[in-house]
Amino acid sequence: MQTTFSMIKPDATAKNVTGAINAMIENAGIRIIAQKRIQMTPTQAGQFYAEHKGKPFYDGLVEMMSSGPIVVQVLQGEDVIKRYRTLMGATNPANAEEGTIRKAFGGELPYNAVHGSDSPESAAREISFFFAQTEIVG
Ligand code: RTP
Ligand code: MG
Repeated sequence: MQTTFSMIKPDATAKNVTGAINAMIENAGIRIIAQKRIQMTPTQAGQFYAEHKGKPFYDGLVEMMSSGPIVVQVLQGEDVIKRYRTLMGATNPANAEEGTIRKAFGGELPYNAVHGSDSPESAAREISFFFAQTEIVG
């Protein structure tokens, strides 16, 4: 069984769709085994997205990600890293397929509702960025 890290972004918490997103996750057979609602400081958001430092969208991304509440989650399931990325849909919601979270709730970039880890290494780093082991209860 695999775990991944998920984040419901400020644009989605502002739209009051965290429950609707959780329902899509659970309907896909994925379990939410840890969850909390927090707000990142700009410094934290910059560290979280450090891989994108220097890219043209980095500053806007950091500002957006620290602009309001987010919901951070640990998800569990078979092959869940890949399956959650599929459920999220394309980075640009305009290209996201029907039935995906970003199609349903995304806006214009960088407002795309959710984040999901893209590899086992990212998942491990991102989970430990927000959660202590004692907060993760399967
Ligand atoms: P994420 O990391 O949030 O799950 O998204 P992703 O893997 O699908 O996309 P990534 O390339 O890692 O980009 C991270 C986030 O930056 C914003 N973005 N804006 N304006 C733009 O061209 C642009 N490109 C990316 C999005 O919020 C994206 O999710
Ligand atoms: Mg990414």
